Amino acid sequence: MKGFSIKTEIEEYDTFAEFANVAGLSAEDLVLCGEHTYDRYIAPLGTGVQTLFREKYGTGEPTDAAVDAIIDALRAKKFNRIIAVGGGTVIDIAKAVAVAGPEDKVDDLYDNVASLKKYHPLIIVPTTCGTGSEVTNISVINRVSKGVKMGLAADAMYADKAIMITNMLESMPYKVFATSSIDAMVHSVESFLSPNGCSISRIFSTEALKTIITCWSKAVAAGGGDAWKTYAADFLKASNWAGLGFGYAGCAAVHACAYPLGSVYHIPHGQSNQLMFASVMKKYKELKPVGRINDLEKVIGDTLQVKPEEALEALYSLMDKVLKCEPLKNFGVKESDLPVFAHDVIGTQQRLLKNNYLPLTEEQVLDIYKAAF
Ligand SMILES: [Fe+2]
Repeated sequence: MKGFSIKTEIEEYDTFAEFANVAGLSAEDLVLCGEHTYDRYIAPLGTGVQTLFREKYGTGEPTDAAVDAIIDALRAKKFNRIIAVGGGTVIDIAKAVAVAGPEDKVDDLYDNVASLKKYHPLIIVPTTCGTGSEVTNISVINRVSKGVKMGLAADAMYADKAIMITNMLESMPYKVFATSSIDAMVHSVESFLSPNGCSISRIFSTEALKTIITCWSKAVAAGGGDAWKTYAADFLKASNWAGLGFGYAGCAAVHACAYPLGSVYHIPHGQSNQLMFASVMKKYKELKPVGRINDLEKVIGDTLQVKPEEALEALYSLMDKVLKCEPLKNFGVKESDLPVFAHDVIGTQQRLLKNNYLPLTEEQVLDIYKAAF
């Protein structure tokens, strides 16, 4: 059994300027971020850092072609540390870039995952409250050339430092808040239920879950909209804790079933998780009503002050108020896609499916998609 450890140093600052000063950002550093993030937080500091703006290489979640183009563009640059400042896309790109050797392309990284090494120290500053990716060793790339969105996981991709700065969330639009906090909630639930978790990872998963649903409840009670900003520090911490939970215990069927929705229909990651969440939980309850899922219901019930048997329904209803959950067909998904998705999930997402609350067959995965359709 692997031991629980935190591979990444986690530092907390009030402002980006404070971090830049302590870290001594300079022209030897490469900052990978969105241009608006640079303009707002970094340019005014005059540190002279080198930059790479991710939107010059496509929008949306990272593809193999975009990451290959970024690796190519960086071959001519000389830099030491990579400072990734952004959400899941920027962080996933930075992790791949940090382990790309002089001749490597994305396919080479997947082909040589066991022997990857880090070429540049990596510092990650998250600007959303969802991925927890600043403390995990996973980069998720849509391998368009292979027709599959899948995770690349290697210890060399752990960041050396994760920098938590609450005010980096202040420019986050509501939809990004909603989808990223839903992603973090799903990380906490999937890692809580994972048979590959341990008592320590479950502390992080539990605290993340309690914090997210408590703050969702307060924000909804305060009328929604920007009310979440009052709890931004809590959401940021919770997404980090959920990252520590799933970094050890793994994510599972919700993420596995969500990936085709992202790769084929470009539904944002957190939202695609939301679309699958209730269907997966209902299938779990149907197949194995007694087990760790009852502990989960107790945590949620105690937090939302409802009976354990009403807890999951109360959570779906609360999440609906954060972002209305819609059936898959509303996103253009066709009924004929569902068996293809179920087959692909079983074929390509075993990395995740091994962390399920219980094993699922292709037929059961198809049932889950049909229930969400
Ligand atoms: Fe996720």
